[in-house]
Amino acid sequence: MNNIHLEITGVNMDFPTPNGPFRALEDVNLKVLKGEFVSIIGHSGCGKSTVLNIVAGLYQATAGGVILNGKEVIGPGPERAMVFQNHSLLPWLTAYENVELAVKTIFKGKKSKAEMKDWIEHNMKLVHMDHALHKRPDEISGGMKQRVGIARALAMEPEVLLLDEPFGALDALTRAHLQDSVMEIQADLGNTMMMVTHDVDEAVLLSDRIVMMTNGPAACVGETLHVDMPKPRDRIAVSEGKEYNNCRHEVLRFLYERHGKKVEVLETKEEGQKNDVVNFKQSKQINNKVA
Ligand SMILES: Nc1ncnc2c1ncn2[C@@H]1O[C@H](COP(=O)(O)OP(=O)(O)O)[C@@H](O)[C@H]1O
Ligand SMILES: [Mg+2]
Repeated sequence: MNNIHLEITGVNMDFPTPNGPFRALEDVNLKVLKGEFVSIIGHSGCGKSTVLNIVAGLYQATAGGVILNGKEVIGPGPERAMVFQNHSLLPWLTAYENVELAVKTIFKGKKSKAEMKDWIEHNMKLVHMDHALHKRPDEISGGMKQRVGIARALAMEPEVLLLDEPFGALDALTRAHLQDSVMEIQADLGNTMMMVTHDVDEAVLLSDRIVMMTNGPAACVGETLHVDMPKPRDRIAVSEGKEYNNCRHEVLRFLYERHGKKVEVLETKEEGQKNDVVNFKQSKQINNKVA
């Protein structure tokens, strides 16, 4: 028995459109270990958010499915919390009250009022927001709002944290601080994390494994890459290391040289590109073993 926490198997996703169904994903397969940090990277529109939404239970896959702890995901659940790119806080509530709303939903009848207060404050502290508990979203910066969004997700005590480009809208310095916070939190709590990003450095710095998706339509997992760097990771120290730069290079190569557009490649008759089909199939087999 291994410690597979989450398993995505044979997932297809067809979206209905006026011109008929649009196949966004085809045969997406991925196994995520307990406590693993997996990043999903790929070109804009390839289907990263769709994968995350299926894991969250917000979308139902057209075929295949997701197993969490041996049970099929059939809808949203508190064991899977999501953090979106745009904080999605309620503007009329303070930071504290935004987190409280989630805490009340999950822990009603299980925690006393005082315990809930402690729990909210504890989670705000984890994201370094304990100094601004009673500020409303329009009184705090973008980075702070994202911190509250992360605190809200953590306060649900999720086994799996799903992050959809959580730092995409932030300036570089704020993004770096939040990445450090997420690394700290994962070291403390050991959650399984799946993060969508299009930032190569972010993926390498944070991940145990990087999942590279082919371009859509009918996107799938093109390659996966293990990032073999000990944790905790210091961004300056690792950025000078060989493994960091090798991983970075591998991801960039995938993104820029071989978009791995499955449909196009498989339909191409030219000799040179037939090799791509072989390579693609081989990489798929490797993935199935690794993933
Ligand atoms: N609700 C929807 N209806 C129709 N098409 C959708 C819907 N959601 C996503 N898509 C399409 O599916 C593809 C993947 O989208 P998405 O998962 O948002 O990509 P990414 O997050 O990688 O940028 C895109 O072509 C997008 O236009
Ligand atoms: Mg997206």
